[in-house]
Amino acid sequence: MGLITVIGSLNMDLVVRTPKMPQAGETLAGTEFHLIPGGKGANQSVAAARAGAPTRMVGRVGTDAFGPVLLDSLTAAGVGTSGVAALSEVTTGTATIVVEDSGENRIIVVAGANGQVSLNFINDQWPAIRQSDLILLQHEIPLSTVHHIIERAYAEGIRVMLNPAPIYSIPRGALAKVDTLILNEVEASALTGLKVTDLATARIVAATLTDLGVNTVLITLGSNGAILHNSHHELFQPAFKVEVVDTTAAGDTFTGGYAASILSGKQPPEALMYAAAASALAVTRLGAQTSIPSRDEVEAFMAAQTTKMNGSPMFKFNGGD
Ligand code: RIB
Repeated sequence: MGLITVIGSLNMDLVVRTPKMPQAGETLAGTEFHLIPGGKGANQSVAAARAGAPTRMVGRVGTDAFGPVLLDSLTAAGVGTSGVAALSEVTTGTATIVVEDSGENRIIVVAGANGQVSLNFINDQWPAIRQSDLILLQHEIPLSTVHHIIERAYAEGIRVMLNPAPIYSIPRGALAKVDTLILNEVEASALTGLKVTDLATARIVAATLTDLGVNTVLITLGSNGAILHNSHHELFQPAFKVEVVDTTAAGDTFTGGYAASILSGKQPPEALMYAAAASALAVTRLGAQTSIPSRDEVEAFMAAQTTKMNGSPMFKFNGGD
C-alpha cells in the first residue's frame, strides 16, 4: 500500500463534560475532565493508520509537557512522527472542548505551534513529503501553507485530499488542484454560498464544487448520512444508527478512514461505507484519538449491522456505476 502524509495540527484536547452548556455569566458544575490527544491533523493520521494505511504526520508541537504525549499517541497508533518538530518559543496547540450529555460539543482552539507550520518548514521537509502517494490537509495550520502544499503537490503529481475545517475561503486556483474535498454541510454551505438543507441541496452543492475542478466531493450530513459526487459516482450513504456519546473527531475519523480505504485500492462506495461506519463508532466513545476505531472493529461493526438488517444492502446508489 502507498504512503499517506498528513500535514496539519496536533492539539492537546482539554475535555470537560457537562449536563448542559453554561449561559454567559453562569457557572456550572461539570462532571468529568480529561486530557485527550487531538488536533484535526493528528486525529486524521490516527484514523488512517488504524484503518491500515502506512501514515506519516508532519507538523509542530511545543517543548512543553503536552508535545511528547501527543507524539506517543501517534506512535502507539502506528503513525510515523519523524516529520513532527518541537519548537521552544511556543506552546503545543490546545483545544478546550465542552461536551454536553447530548453529545454536542463546543471547541475553542489555540493554535500555538500549529501556527508555525510555515512555508520554510514545509520546504525543508519536502524531500520526505514528496515520497507520499496521498497528502491529507485540513485548515488548522496557516492557510498560506495549505495552499502552497496544494500547488506544490499538484505540480509533482501527488494526490491531495482536503478537509477544509475550520472553514475559510480557498482560492479558485488551489481548489481546482484538490483531488478530493471532504467537508460537512456547514462548511459546504460557507464555501459555495449555497445553503445545504437536505440531500437534494447537498447534491447540488457537491456538483457545484466538482464544476470548480475538484475531482471528488464528499459532504457529511451528520445523522442524515453522507454523499459522494464525482464524474463516475453519485452515492448516498445513510448514517449508521448508534448511541451518541461525543461527536468530537467524527469528521476526522471519516476523512482518515476514507483516505486509507481509497489508498488501499477500495472503490468509492466501499471507502464511503467504511468511513461512515468508522465515524459512527467514533461517536459512541468520548474524546478524539481515544474514540477512533481500528479496521478490525469497523469491519466487525459493519458485519453486525448487515446481519441486523437481514443482509439487505445498507448502501444506496443514486446513479453512478
Ligand atoms: O476535529 C476535532 C478536533 O478539533 C479536536 O481534537 C480538537 O483538537 C480540534 O482541533
